[in-house]
Amino acid sequence: MSIISDNNDFKSAKSLHSGHKNPVIKPETLEADKNFENSIRPKSFDAYIGQTALKETLKITIEAAKKREQPLDHLLFYGPPGLGKTTLAGVIAEQMGVDIRITSAPALERPRDIIGILMSLKGGEILFIDEIHRLNKIAEEILYPAMEDFFLDMTTGKSQTVKTLRVPLPKFTLIGATTKAGELSGPLRDRFGIIHRLEFYTEDELAQVIKRTAGILNIEITEEGAHAIARRSRGTPRIANRLIKRVSDFALVKHDGKITEGVANESLDILKIDTFGLDTTDRSLLRLIIEKYDGGPVGVETIAAAIGEDVRTIEDVCEPYLLQAGLLQRTPRGRKVSPAAYRHLGIVDRDINDQKSLF
Ligand code: ADE
Repeated sequence: MSIISDNNDFKSAKSLHSGHKNPVIKPETLEADKNFENSIRPKSFDAYIGQTALKETLKITIEAAKKREQPLDHLLFYGPPGLGKTTLAGVIAEQMGVDIRITSAPALERPRDIIGILMSLKGGEILFIDEIHRLNKIAEEILYPAMEDFFLDMTTGKSQTVKTLRVPLPKFTLIGATTKAGELSGPLRDRFGIIHRLEFYTEDELAQVIKRTAGILNIEITEEGAHAIARRSRGTPRIANRLIKRVSDFALVKHDGKITEGVANESLDILKIDTFGLDTTDRSLLRLIIEKYDGGPVGVETIAAAIGEDVRTIEDVCEPYLLQAGLLQRTPRGRKVSPAAYRHLGIVDRDINDQKSLF
C-alpha cells in the first residue's frame, strides 16, 4: 500500500488559519507537522488508539467489502481537526490492501484538478479529500456521477455542437473529511454511503497515544507524565503529539530528559497552556465575553475583531473544544460563557453573587 499525496495538500489549512497566536496548541496541520505525523501514523486498527465504536463498525464494513470483492462504500468523516481523520483513511487503505491518494478541496480549484485525479485512479483505490466542504460547485458536479456510477461526464464543443461524453472510471472509494459537516451540500452528503463523526479523545486514550509516540521517538516518560500532557491536549492527538516534543525538549535541556508529571506541568506552564489545555487565545476569548459583554451573548464577528483572530479560526479551532469542555455555549443570539468558565479563570460571577445575596 502506498500513500500518494498532492504537493499542495494541507497548504490551505495552513494559510486558512495563519493568524493564530500559539501554533503549538492549534489542531490544524502545520507544514512542520507533516513529516512528523507521517512517521508516527498508526497503520493498523490495533495501533490506532481511540474511536473504538467507529473502528469496530469500520472493521465489519471492510470485511464485508473484501468478502464481496467490491470497493468500500464512499465514506465521510467529520469532526474537529486533529482527531485522526487522515490517519484513519490510511488505516482503511492498509486494511483493504489498496493505495490511497490524499488531497484537499482547495487544491481542486480547477475542473482539470479533480478530473486529473479521478482519471489517474486505479481500480479499488481510495481517494481522500480533506476539507471536502470547501469543494467548489463545478468540482462537486464532476464528482456526483463519478461517485454514483463511476463515470465522468465530459463535454466537448461549444453551444449548439456541445456533446456529452461518458468516460468510465475504475471503481474507487472516496473518503471525505470535514470539520464542518453542516456546510456540505445535501447532494454531496447523500452520495456517501457511510457517515461517521470522530469524537474527542479521553485523557486515558491520549495518554496511550503519548506513550506510543514517546516509544517511537525514544523519549522516556512516566505514566503520570503522559497523563499530565494528555490533560492539556484538548482531547486531540495531534496536539498531544506536538506537546510531547516540546515537553521532551524542555526535559532534555532543564532536567535529565525524562518526562515526569512535574517536568510536564512545569514545561506546559511555561508554554502558557493551562490545566484545561487552553492557550492565551482561548482565555482572552472567554475573558472578553465575561469582562466586556457580561458573559454574553455576543456575536462571533465582534469577538474575532476584539481579540484579533479571524472568525474561521475561532469557529473551527477554538470553539469546538471550548464547547465540548462546557466553557462556552452557542445560542441563536451569539456566544455565552458558562459558570465553569468563570470558575476556570478565577473570576467571580457578579450575577451569581448578586443572586446569592438575594437569599
Ligand atoms: N497518533 C495520532 N492519532 C493516533 C491514534 N488515534 N492512535 C495512535 N496514534 C495516533
